[in-house]
Amino acid sequence: MRIGILSSGGDCPGINATIRGVGKTALNHFEMEVIGIRYGFQGLLNRDYTPLGDAKLSGLLNLGGTILGTSREKPFRQILENGDSEKPQTIVNNYKDLKLDCLVCIGGNGTQKTTYQLSKLGLNVIGIPKTIDNDVFGTDFTFGFDSAVHIATEAIDRLHSTASSHNRVMVIELMGHRAGWIALYAGMAGGADVILLPELGCDIDKVNETILKRAQKGKPHSIVAVGEGLKLNGIEGSPASRLSKLIYEGTEIETRETILGYVQRGGSPSAYDRNLATRLGGYATEMISKHQFGKMVAIVGGQITSIPLEEVAGKTKLVTPDNDLILQGKRMGISFGI
Ligand code: F6P
Repeated sequence: MRIGILSSGGDCPGINATIRGVGKTALNHFEMEVIGIRYGFQGLLNRDYTPLGDAKLSGLLNLGGTILGTSREKPFRQILENGDSEKPQTIVNNYKDLKLDCLVCIGGNGTQKTTYQLSKLGLNVIGIPKTIDNDVFGTDFTFGFDSAVHIATEAIDRLHSTASSHNRVMVIELMGHRAGWIALYAGMAGGADVILLPELGCDIDKVNETILKRAQKGKPHSIVAVGEGLKLNGIEGSPASRLSKLIYEGTEIETRETILGYVQRGGSPSAYDRNLATRLGGYATEMISKHQFGKMVAIVGGQITSIPLEEVAGKTKLVTPDNDLILQGKRMGISFGI
């Protein structure tokens, strides 16, 4: 068999480990041929690809980013906007010209949706979920998330000492798009005093009350971890500076903000993410060998499995108020701003 692999959407730690997992399993175990498609679906439109032999698959396990490059090309967007189906048709034609037996698409929610749409056009496809945001429906975890949580936790750890030295409130804004997974996991692991998630919203009076109560107990410093998707007073966009202004106005405690940004997405994957990526890659290749297409590989309850792309497409996995970390955090006096 001849398989193509691409990465699409924002990069994250673990994509290269996945390419390695798919590629080495395909070459060594199933004797398949593998080509890498550059810059996501853009490469499939432009026939921009490179053969992935043994040499190119070495040295990838700990490498951040993606050796194939990525883009946010959405080939089905124009169909929705003006009925123009040229791009999907070009992709179908190029898939055939490249003599592919399957296309493996590594990506987040948008990518899984595109992959599903391609399967409806008759292509053999497999989706592999990736994102630091951990918001892909149908899988408990995505690789990239654990690495991002490690980086964010270390950042919060470092804020504690400067917050307490200056008796300041430190607001740290974490990535995650509309999902609060990184803010929740890193906030809890880093011992934040207030954790604000886009899914739960925020009552600023409650936040200030928590900070003032801490000050009354002799702890005038506080750490506030906030997900970037939190809407404050219904306003979208980076909440950190508006939040720190509202906290200062409500508490009169000096407040500073940190927007952690893209360091959460860069660099080497954690050991957990490397092994998750390797397992998902191997499982995807095995599915290809069995001609099981139109599915996304996933980890559910610790087991590697798969789910039909039809059930994934167009959905997002958000934090729910009954999450055990939230419930435990509340029991310990951590404020979730509600
Ligand atoms: O999906 C990953 C992510 O890093 C989000 O957390 C963030 O909102 C977004 O991508 C940033 O996207 P871009 O790379 O387009 O700036």
